[in-house]
Amino acid sequence: MDDLSRRRMLITGGALGALGALGAASPARAKSLWTWAPSGSVAGKGAGVDPDWVWDEEADPVLAAVIERGEVAKVNAALRTWTRNDQPLPDGLPADLRDFMERAHQLPPWTDRAKLADAARFTTKKGIYTGALYGLGSGLMSTAIPREARAVYYSKGGADMKDRIAKTAQLGYDVGDLDAYQPSGGMVVTAVKTRLVHAAVRHLLPQSPGWSRTSGGQTIPISQADIMVTWHSLATFVMSKLIDWGVRISPAESAGYLHVWQVTAHLLGVLDEYIPASWDEANAQSRQVLDPILASTPEGVELTGVLLDIVAELDAGLTRPLINGFTRYTLGNRTGDLIGLDKEPFWQPLISAAWPLLVAFREGLIPLPLIPQAAWTVEEALRKFVLFYLSEGRGPSIEIPDANRPS
Ligand code: HEM
Repeated sequence: MDDLSRRRMLITGGALGALGALGAASPARAKSLWTWAPSGSVAGKGAGVDPDWVWDEEADPVLAAVIERGEVAKVNAALRTWTRNDQPLPDGLPADLRDFMERAHQLPPWTDRAKLADAARFTTKKGIYTGALYGLGSGLMSTAIPREARAVYYSKGGADMKDRIAKTAQLGYDVGDLDAYQPSGGMVVTAVKTRLVHAAVRHLLPQSPGWSRTSGGQTIPISQADIMVTWHSLATFVMSKLIDWGVRISPAESAGYLHVWQVTAHLLGVLDEYIPASWDEANAQSRQVLDPILASTPEGVELTGVLLDIVAELDAGLTRPLINGFTRYTLGNRTGDLIGLDKEPFWQPLISAAWPLLVAFREGLIPLPLIPQAAWTVEEALRKFVLFYLSEGRGPSIEIPDANRPS
């Protein structure tokens, strides 16, 4: 059976079909059985099929056809002019792509504008924390997610890793824009373009010898489960760290932050039955899909080096040990080891002691004199890093790839 018909069978065949196929595939994969129930999703119900066997039924055939017809350059040229949520789709798109995008750029019916506003307020207040967590937490954790590291490494963008590595974390910042989902914002556009890129990658990567050699038996990359893994490395991880650090978050801000990520997942093509309805459900799903798969790969270690070199360029390497120390503090030593971060016997204990004090001060819990000088040094380095992402880090517009990384 070819991949497409197998996929169709699994999507329509319900849980039994999925379990059968999972059994057949499990020797190639170290992962737990999918037991997360669709009753915990924004849809509240669903077939319960393992999302590892679901990709993007709507986008994938359209992007495969665009690539096969040699229309990628034409489509990219048209899409460059499409930047705002309230803009109509640009002229010059092939009819099948236009039809798909007309549907794909609608906000889900369950969008709650008040919650989106709460999320924007939250990011305005806590930007330094979320910025540091996206850039140094999620960004570096992605290199310990084997499927993501390898997909990025062997895809076209992998040839310019410095440009590429910043981009998933970048989306985290865009999600926090004040007007992200307002008519004047750009998140609908960014998410839909990303959905197109992922669909193109699903068509292209299976043709890459490097990817096929290392994919651990997966025949099509970027399943719905994979997308949720990355989603948790962004949203769920950031929220759990903020709570760990004792950052004050009101219930409305917490719900708003979740909501903005729920809407983003929907626009990225994740089925509503896989999008967690609450933080409790998100944490449960994250424990099932993200925690067990973190691992070291040569591709991930190389990507880590590239990301840290970006940091080093900001200040001739002066703060690199400090950034290593902060990242180890944030991600933990296990993940730090997995991605090949240097151990920092001086900085790490110092940061572990100073950072909670700094947060407590910023949250109005302790007075200024209790803050050690080192805490300000750490904060200043993080601020630089976050500003880099927010300004120079912003690359050119998102482009659909037409080939893999040259091997
Ligand atoms: C491209 C974000 C999940 C692999 C992109 C781009 C963005 C993005 C913004 C466009 C970058 C550009 O400007 O070229 C996200 C988000 C995800 C997610 C927010 C989940 C919430 C994944 C997963 C994988 C993956 C799970 C693989 C397992 C890729 C690859 C590219 C890409 C290979 C294309 C790189 C290239 O050739 O340029 N993603 N991504 N992504 N993403 Fe994702």
